[in-house]
Amino acid sequence: MQLKNKVALVTGGAVRLGRSIAVALARQGADVAITYNSSAGPAEAVVAEIAASGCRAAAFQADFSLTSDMARLVDEVLARFGHLDILVNSAAIFERGEWDTTTEENWDRHFAINLKAPFFLSQAFGRHVKARGTRGHIVNIADWRGVRPGTDHMAYTLTKVGVVGMTKGLALALAPEIQVNAIAPGLILPPPGANETSVVRKAAELPLARSGSPEEIVKAVLYLLDSDFVTGELLYVTGGEHL
Ligand SMILES: NC(=O)c1ccc[n+]([C@@H]2O[C@H](COP(=O)([O-])OP(=O)(O)OC[C@H]3O[C@@H](n4cnc5c(N)ncnc54)[C@H](OP(=O)(O)O)[C@@H]3O)[C@@H](O)[C@H]2O)c1
Repeated sequence: MQLKNKVALVTGGAVRLGRSIAVALARQGADVAITYNSSAGPAEAVVAEIAASGCRAAAFQADFSLTSDMARLVDEVLARFGHLDILVNSAAIFERGEWDTTTEENWDRHFAINLKAPFFLSQAFGRHVKARGTRGHIVNIADWRGVRPGTDHMAYTLTKVGVVGMTKGLALALAPEIQVNAIAPGLILPPPGANETSVVRKAAELPLARSGSPEEIVKAVLYLLDSDFVTGELLYVTGGEHL
């Protein structure tokens, strides 16, 4: 898909990986809507940066742990941009919790933000693209843990298992108009507040002996959007961590 004059919605597009993806799509000529929850200032900065490059941009506040009405969010984006071609589900939370320390609150919040919101956004997006009779792409940002669950970050990991399954199910359900793929990042950006020494040590233990960069995720997103024949795929960008 050529990105010029296409419209993309990137969740969590104000900071970190979501921000890199939003800015990169605009560099390819796409108009970009982003969602943010608490990062109002960074969201404004992304909108200003994209607008300065000549593309349209707007930010929409939504707390995915509370908002059940994803169709309304998509309607707001459509009211502003007219149509949508691309949905990137990047927003997520990543909080600790092992099998015996995971609380119901931790479980419910992870599932609302990381899985329920992407599903219902995809549903609203799918209805729009199919009704319009055009082509579309959904790119879900998953995690290699979604294929090889461990014992840490239990609720988070299970949401990513769901994201991987959802990617395949929606790839079938939304074909042929919409391609649905996912990216499984590895060690790209350490979680905020992570101990630098442990991150460096972990990176050295990976098969490719280093951590990745947001640019590597961006390249994967652009590849998936460029392809007309890849759907239901999970693209690992992990330096071999998942092996
Ligand atoms: N970083 C990595 O190395 C890595 C590795 C594996 C997988 N991933 C996946 O890649 C994606 C992006 O990761 P990241 O590290 O860039 O994420 P992050 O820094 O943890 O950012 C989380 C994003 O989710 C949004 N968010 C959090 N709570 C929300 C809520 N209640 N409602 C709506 N939005 C909410 C945040 O918005 P606000 O800031 O506006 O609140 C923010 O944009 C995630 O899906 C993550 O699981 C990342």
